[in-house]
Amino acid sequence: MPFIAIGNILTGQFIGKRVDIRGWVYRKRESKDTIFIIMRDSSGVIQCTVKRNSKAWKDAQKVTIESSLALQGAVKEDKRAPGGYEVTTDKLKIVGLSEVFPIAKDKSEGFLRDVRHLWLRSRKMSTIMKIRAKVFMFIHEFFRKQGFVEVSPPMFISSAVEGGATLFGLKYFDDEMYLTQSAQLHLEVLIHSLEKVYCVAPSFRAEKSRTIRHLTEFWHVESEEAFSTLDDLMRLEEQLVSYVFQNTGKKCRKQLEVLEVDPKELLKIEAPFPKITYTEAIERLHKKGFKIKWGEDFGFNEERALAKDLAGPLFVYEYPKKIKAFYVKAYPDKPELVMSADLIVPRIGELSTGGARVDAKDELLQNLKVFDLRPEDYEWYIDLRRYGAVPHTGFGMGVERLLAWMLKLESIMDTIPFPRTTRRSYP
Ligand code: 4AD
Ligand code: MG
Repeated sequence: MPFIAIGNILTGQFIGKRVDIRGWVYRKRESKDTIFIIMRDSSGVIQCTVKRNSKAWKDAQKVTIESSLALQGAVKEDKRAPGGYEVTTDKLKIVGLSEVFPIAKDKSEGFLRDVRHLWLRSRKMSTIMKIRAKVFMFIHEFFRKQGFVEVSPPMFISSAVEGGATLFGLKYFDDEMYLTQSAQLHLEVLIHSLEKVYCVAPSFRAEKSRTIRHLTEFWHVESEEAFSTLDDLMRLEEQLVSYVFQNTGKKCRKQLEVLEVDPKELLKIEAPFPKITYTEAIERLHKKGFKIKWGEDFGFNEERALAKDLAGPLFVYEYPKKIKAFYVKAYPDKPELVMSADLIVPRIGELSTGGARVDAKDELLQNLKVFDLRPEDYEWYIDLRRYGAVPHTGFGMGVERLLAWMLKLESIMDTIPFPRTTRRSYP
């Protein structure tokens, strides 16, 4: 007989039938005449009972938590069993007997991260991983529907995108290279043939910050679009975020329930989002008692304060030039301000940064000088401004930040199977 997924049995279509299931022992309890084994597989958990007079009794006694088993028995409805169904088991094969599983109740967060390779089996982590996979799917769906072409940027790069301070260097044969911080500059190349491009790829930051929103390796959604404006960009971003929240809210109800997240909260996130300028944001912060001066960058607290009032996302745009990167285009009539926009969300703060790119060669050369960067490191990037440049915009958004916000998680570390931070690179 083929193996049946536990989730399928829980739909009720196997009542009165015999089934083969396989999976791992989630819980075990023994009474005088019955052994209760709660089995889990990737689709759910179900109670399996073994009676003293069954041939399976002896092996069932040996079974330990997290052992892997193959079972056979008859399905019946049982209101008392978790999930409402039970498998009366008469055949049981131990596939891999487990030693004493180190995770019991009430283990500290630190311990659970040390045994991450085992903790990933938990209901919480496997549910987050399922939602994460759906979120990736929704992101890809969104961009494809919008006519964007998925491209594959390099992870080894020869010059910084986001400033030298957070670059991971490495030896590349006889040269020095870096791990990419952002695919942006390479995506800009590809718009000259494909016009609308995107990627979802890892980015790396040698970030010393130990906050709930920083990883050293994160998954970055980035896009670039030829012939577009800052308004087009903000529209694209808010539509993407809405698409992901609406679809997750509608299609991941069961998983959200496990995490005690109300799908209705997700369905509230819908485009358009409020938009204020940097200068307006500074005024709002002053009214709240913040001491930040015009021209300074927002920190974590300022960002969270801005998003808190709305209980939802907002864009801040039109930033002072000196707190944004060398590639951001200035407003022709206000050269000290640039066409950059951050999407800011409750609890997490910055979710994305995007903007219009400098498309004139002279402005780019001037910026490289101002930002103290060597033009020879950006030769190919300057070339794009020599051969048929067009106005264009793009953005980058961290998928883990999106998930931490959406699922109300305490830490960004729980959004990714194997988090990498200043203090963690194991397992
Ligand atoms: O604001 P950032 O540094 O912008 C860029 O890299 C642009 N080149 C992107 C672009 O325009 N294509 O990073 C973009 C986003 C942040 O808003 C944040 O969501 C995420 O990437 N991010 C991180 N996420 C987790 N851990 C970190 N250390 C992150 N650094 C950035
Ligand atoms: Mg940013």
